[in-house]
Amino acid sequence: MKLPARDFTNPRARHNFEGRTCSIISVGSYVPERVLSNADLEKMVDTSNEWIFSRTGIKERRIAAQHQATSDLAARAARVAMTRAKITPGEIDLIILATITPDMPFPSTACLVQEKIGAENAAAFDIQAACSGFIFALEIGQQFIMSRTYDTILVIGAEKLSSIINWNDRNTCVLFGDGAGAAILRYRPDAHGLLTACMGSDGARAGLLCMPGGGSAFPPSHETVAAGLHYLRMDGKETYKNAVTAMHIAAVEALRRCELDIAQITCIIPHQANRRIIDAVAERLGAKPEQLFVNLEKHGNTSAASVAIALDEAVQCKRIQRGDLVLLIVFGAGLTWGAAIIEW
Ligand code: UT7
Repeated sequence: MKLPARDFTNPRARHNFEGRTCSIISVGSYVPERVLSNADLEKMVDTSNEWIFSRTGIKERRIAAQHQATSDLAARAARVAMTRAKITPGEIDLIILATITPDMPFPSTACLVQEKIGAENAAAFDIQAACSGFIFALEIGQQFIMSRTYDTILVIGAEKLSSIINWNDRNTCVLFGDGAGAAILRYRPDAHGLLTACMGSDGARAGLLCMPGGGSAFPPSHETVAAGLHYLRMDGKETYKNAVTAMHIAAVEALRRCELDIAQITCIIPHQANRRIIDAVAERLGAKPEQLFVNLEKHGNTSAASVAIALDEAVQCKRIQRGDLVLLIVFGAGLTWGAAIIEW
């Protein structure tokens, strides 16, 4: 597993590339009202609150209503971000939405969100990098801003993971939740912004975490449904090991590109999959517990929405203030991983 070191020897120069800065001008999030607690799960599968909390750090997660699709969660988060940014939907040039639970295979969920929020001037598309999706989408958005293609971009990570969970499989059903987080990126020459984002992938380990059925390899049929191919599958132990290694590598590379030391980071927001993974990564990085922002106990793993929701919560509770350095670290199916550093 590797993340090739790129020659961004002066990241601040990249930040100010041709006088442009990609700034996150606002964030927003939405989680569904319904809470599914560990006690509720005890009634559904052979598990216990003690097992779930001690192995993962999760106490409860939010589950979307039947009538809510991923685009509904995404639109709610997007509206919050737009209101806080004081922008109208018509000002959005581009919508990039990261998800593994699109409303349908096509059209893109981003197009459905465009219609729901009335962003009639925007181009819209989805990207798929599983739990790493939000950072991948941020990096794509940043490239469009730096290249002067667009000025205002809505980036969303949104999931209705409850729609692909096998609620009889205790190995996976206790881990995941639903929700959405959004950020508005804008060109602002005077502002702080995204200093770097790095991304890595390893398709050789795709089988560790996947949903095999429903695509062109195994189109939906009675047989694929009977075999449960339409459910999320995970080799938990192997995924765990890879997550710790990849998140550490990604964070080290992002810090190197910005010529920063971990001690200079005010707030570290890791992908919220497992408290033990987060603590192991923090230990390898030499980070202090108080640098970490963790909301896993409330939401579980919300995949592409995970760091987006956490970023919003950290900003709203003032864990992140203007000028702070924020490190996002992600890992997910693919395998995919990445890290981003933001000067807030
Ligand atoms: O977002 C993408 C990235 N995702 C991740 O990074 C998740 C990575 N993996 C993990 O977080 C952990 O591997 C899990 C939380 C999924 C599992 O924790 P673990 O410490 O690796 O447990 P395990 O898989 O080794 O299972 C230990 C035991 C097994 O029983 P036996 O075979 O030892 O008798 C499991 O059957 O725990 C059993 N078990 C459960 N027991 C009660 C598995 N799930 C449950 C459960 N309740 N929900």
